[in-house]
Amino acid sequence: MKIEFKNQPLNTIEADIEVVFVIKEKESHYFVKDSEALTKLGFFEESGDTAFINDRLYIKLDSLEREDLRLGACKAIRWLKGTKLKTAKIASYITTCDRGDTRAIADGAMLGLYEFKSLKSKKADTAFEMLYISSEAYGATIDTDEKDIVEALAKSKIICDAVNSARELVNTPPDRATPDMIASLASQKAKDAGIECKIYGEDYLTEHGMGAFLAVSRASEHEPKLVYLTYKPKEPKATVALIGKGLTYDSGGLSLKPADYMTTMKADKSGAVAALHIIEAAAKLKLEVEIHAVLGLCENMIGGNAYKPDDILVAKNGKTIEIKNTDAEGRLVLADCLCFIQDELKAKNIEPDYIVDIATLTGACVVALGEYTTGVMGHNKDVKEEIFKAAAKSGELVGDLPFNKHLPKLIKSEAADISNCSSSRYGGAITAALFLDEFITKENKEKWVHLDIAGPAYVEKSWGYNPFGASGIMVRTLTQFIMNLSMTGASCSSKGCKK
Ligand code: BES
Ligand code: ZN
Ligand code: ZN
Repeated sequence: MKIEFKNQPLNTIEADIEVVFVIKEKESHYFVKDSEALTKLGFFEESGDTAFINDRLYIKLDSLEREDLRLGACKAIRWLKGTKLKTAKIASYITTCDRGDTRAIADGAMLGLYEFKSLKSKKADTAFEMLYISSEAYGATIDTDEKDIVEALAKSKIICDAVNSARELVNTPPDRATPDMIASLASQKAKDAGIECKIYGEDYLTEHGMGAFLAVSRASEHEPKLVYLTYKPKEPKATVALIGKGLTYDSGGLSLKPADYMTTMKADKSGAVAALHIIEAAAKLKLEVEIHAVLGLCENMIGGNAYKPDDILVAKNGKTIEIKNTDAEGRLVLADCLCFIQDELKAKNIEPDYIVDIATLTGACVVALGEYTTGVMGHNKDVKEEIFKAAAKSGELVGDLPFNKHLPKLIKSEAADISNCSSSRYGGAITAALFLDEFITKENKEKWVHLDIAGPAYVEKSWGYNPFGASGIMVRTLTQFIMNLSMTGASCSSKGCKK
């Protein structure tokens, strides 16, 4: 499907149908041409939210806020997908800014259209080809800048392509999406986008003392891979490190998951896949931010050589970790990846402004915030605030899970420096973050933020513009976060300034 902006009135654009958004309040119906017929259908009062009359597809919206525009465009596109229609046109619905509001319609259409069908032998191909967005706004006179809008739509395409490509890779089952396959894909993407890519295997991890990462991977047939991607624009305004949990499968290990909990665990690589697509999108958008992305790719399996509850592992920074549950494996992989990137940057004399990890880390986060929301944790409230700002702009849901001084004692160990599992059944998302905190150096504490995406990463019942399956969560928020930095640079609070 293509989306094109046309700086001309609706009636001069040729298309199979017109899509019309109608807000719930009656006062807004003055411009609805088929008002009478729609009233007879009970469209304004009843629960139905789409109606097709006289080559016009009416979609009922709660408001003209951006998220509602995205949802409306998604509804329209899904309706069109089920028809033989090829083209549609829609007016501009601008309440705040022409670029942002027009982009919202394009985003909703592109994100709503995706479905995972590449492994079905019979693919129901859609006939739909083209959505035209007209500059007409039904009577309201709006001074739109065509060049700006075309630019915004190009950005929208890069970002939505990144989300859909992330969804496709996360949806790819674990027999295909192995650490090696993802590393090769990363290398190809890097080559195409002008990103540097290094791939490290078992020998490197052993030589560099990454005992936690290695232990998780040991019972797998597939070699673990640490992928290190670097995007360096000419004049970066800030430097961001992204670290993604990339469990291509999480069976739980010897602390085996019950069968019902194991399905969907192909999505345990969502953090790494997000990081890959964010750096790719940033490079394609030519953002002025230096990005270092680390993907920790491996599989958590069972076998005679599997790591065990009671084992004590040694991480890259020398800390010893008592294993109480092999299903708390993501934090072990991340621990070594966090050490890796901090050591690497230090050796190169690069001071990061932000260190962001992304992980499907805990079921506890889903209990705390629900399945739609990403948990945001970290020491610096201004850094978290910047994530909230970017999320609000993208339409992704985030919630703060605050640290406190009582929680760290729950991951103390009698036998080692730290335990991989909390001694309490409560607060598991935060204690997991506090475990990661043990692997953040003193100088980086204020720069670090942890995003737990266990809830929204995989959608079992389609919601919003997310189809069944992987959501590509955080690709939009973090690309927006980097876009904001590209415009303004890093805030002084991420540099440890408390003023
Ligand atoms: N990958 C899971 C977390 C998860 C749960 C992701 C549900 C998506 C949906 C993680 O590795 C895990 O199993 N965590 C355990 C930790 C516990 C053993 C301390 C959990 O949350 O139960
Ligand atoms: Zn697990
Ligand atoms: Zn996991």
